[in-house]
Amino acid sequence: MTAVDQLPAWKALERHARDLQGRHLRELCVEDPGRGARWRGRVGAVQVDYAKHRASEETFALLFALAEEVALPAQIARLFAGERINTTEQRAVLHMALRGDASSVFRLDGVDVMPEILATRERMRALCDALRAGAWRGAAGAPVTDVVNIGIGGSDLGPYMICEALAPYAAGAPRVHFVSNIDGAQISRVLTPLDPRHTLFIVNSKSFGTLETKANADTAKAWLLQSGLPAEAIMARHFLAVSANQAALSAFGIPEANRFPIWDWVGGRYSLWSATGLAIAIAVGMDRFEALLTGARTMDIHFRDTPMPDNLPLRLGLLGVWYADFLGAPSHAVLPYDDRLRSLPAYLQQADMESNGKRVTRDGQPAAWATGPIVWGAPGTNGQHAFFQLMHQGTHLIPADFIGCIRPHHPYADHHRALLANLLAQSEALMRGRTEAETRAALTARGLDAARVEALTPHNVFPGNQPSTTILLDALTPEALGSLIALYEHRIFTQGAVWGINSFDQWGVELGKLMAQTVIGELAAGEIGAGHDPWSAALIAACLPGAQGGAGA
Ligand code: F6P
Repeated sequence: MTAVDQLPAWKALERHARDLQGRHLRELCVEDPGRGARWRGRVGAVQVDYAKHRASEETFALLFALAEEVALPAQIARLFAGERINTTEQRAVLHMALRGDASSVFRLDGVDVMPEILATRERMRALCDALRAGAWRGAAGAPVTDVVNIGIGGSDLGPYMICEALAPYAAGAPRVHFVSNIDGAQISRVLTPLDPRHTLFIVNSKSFGTLETKANADTAKAWLLQSGLPAEAIMARHFLAVSANQAALSAFGIPEANRFPIWDWVGGRYSLWSATGLAIAIAVGMDRFEALLTGARTMDIHFRDTPMPDNLPLRLGLLGVWYADFLGAPSHAVLPYDDRLRSLPAYLQQADMESNGKRVTRDGQPAAWATGPIVWGAPGTNGQHAFFQLMHQGTHLIPADFIGCIRPHHPYADHHRALLANLLAQSEALMRGRTEAETRAALTARGLDAARVEALTPHNVFPGNQPSTTILLDALTPEALGSLIALYEHRIFTQGAVWGINSFDQWGVELGKLMAQTVIGELAAGEIGAGHDPWSAALIAACLPGAQGGAGA
């Protein structure tokens, strides 16, 4: 297979990037003011404006040509057809089926996967209804007031982020908490105020082999057992689990009635739409969980069926390729102007970086081109008082997503106006900047003398030319949020498909896990084994029990 960087469209994009070098967004805007109306679209409750990009119609024409040359439309068709596109694990990638409805068609090896999904959803509904109505009783006959999700990575970040985002819809429901880290400080903080008689745990682990989740589940079990309630009743009334590993669930003691399935065609970072999202459904109710699915389904259908020029995730994905490979931008900022979306950057870090942080192509050849960007960000307006300095006057090109909600869920209209105004102003300021002449005029207007104006001008010039996409949700409803997350998922798919990498495995997380197991043994034994490099051995020695300043000191 021809490497993507040898394709004619790639070569044309390299030439085109040289032509576009030095062109400022201000100039592009003067040349084509009408693109503010053209380079935008809406899917469901989500509007996307991508006018403020260092690109022209020609850029997109070439990017579409590249998409054709890598057979992107066929790759999308294979994704939805349930082909085993996760080649290293020989798995299909069918998280879209999790947001399907009774009329959806998703097959794996010719077998319809929808009946099992819909049946699981019905079980989730029954459970959520019982919990929310106080009908599910604990071992002591008490209703559940607190639900603790134990999981990490995809078994934590999605449910956690969505529960935060939809908190206004969770009134009256059991409180949900999240424990992910192996750090005992976290589970200790979560459990300390809770009462075992009123607490239910969801052990969320596709593999049920993850160190952190196993340790936290064991600690939760011990914490419940200390209450003196009968062990069998504890397992029956205080533990649910979502996993594909039946043997491990049996060993842990989860009764079959409390087990929810997850299938090998659902990647962990794409799993919040399955029973992995139980905490969400408990918090906001099953109807709203289904609205989240509906929003994502709307985006799935848009991505699957819309021709390239109007396909929003595809456009955004191609822009990401353009920045990473032709304009040399190593990172991508996610800037939600909504406090409820404060965990979106962390969620997208896993979604994007675990998917596209790859250095070889699907057939194992080194990728000689940049792949997935470093994803980072924080909510506005906080970020403006932290890292925006670097975006405005630093030396890096940083494409950014500004994400806002037109209607708030709180009564403070002045706050919301100012929040939205900041979002809009920042994207404009980053794009336009402020020229030397404008800076002199502004400083002079402040009454500064000529020498001061001269001295301060270089420090107050804003180069601008920082590109951004603005994503506006009508309001942060479950449906809008579902569409937003699916928009990102398909954008990530688009980029991986162009780069020719497998976006659905994650071998890169394994080495550190393995080595940690060795060090755990060494710390427990108080002895360092062979095979470490001397620098690492010195650090391990500093942490051995009894070492000065070490664990035992
Ligand atoms: O370590 C990475 C990872 O495998 C993620 O891909 C996954 O979401 C997470 O760990 C948790 O895995 P599990 O659900 O199997 O515990």
